[in-house]
Amino acid sequence: MADRKTKKYARIHTQLGGLLGQCSHPLARMATINAILYHKMDSFSWVGFYLVHNGQLIVGPYQGPLACQVLEKNKGVCWAGIRGQKTIIVPDVHAFPGHIACDSRTRSEIVIPLQNIAGEITGVLDIDSRLVSNFDDIDGKELEKICNLIYAR
Ligand code: SME
Repeated sequence: MADRKTKKYARIHTQLGGLLGQCSHPLARMATINAILYHKMDSFSWVGFYLVHNGQLIVGPYQGPLACQVLEKNKGVCWAGIRGQKTIIVPDVHAFPGHIACDSRTRSEIVIPLQNIAGEITGVLDIDSRLVSNFDDIDGKELEKICNLIYAR
């Protein structure tokens, strides 16, 4: 099972490596990553980016149901990822104090902070699932690798 997931991510990574070479703009790359992850990973119900803008976290490119446009400062999983500067896996969103529910069907979530080439945290990749405990360390590691493609030259 774990092996199957790792291989699936490897195929996605290879496909993205080819696609993202076409354009270096981070927004184009984020949009492409969303489309691939949302349509290839059956258990992902929402895939998107929240971006740091004027001290706020605003929604960027995404796929899935309508999402909150601005996340209340220092509340919820995305802000926790920004503050901690590391990947956060939430097995059960109902047990995460301050979780912001854009879609009440969401049960688990993963957030990966993005770092540009200057080392600044520019936002997060946020993925929701309607399954409890959908994300593990393999997802964390593989999604971090995918996020590293966004600012790669
Ligand atoms: N749940 C996130 C908010 C964004 S939605 O999941 C799309 C949070 O708590 O930060």
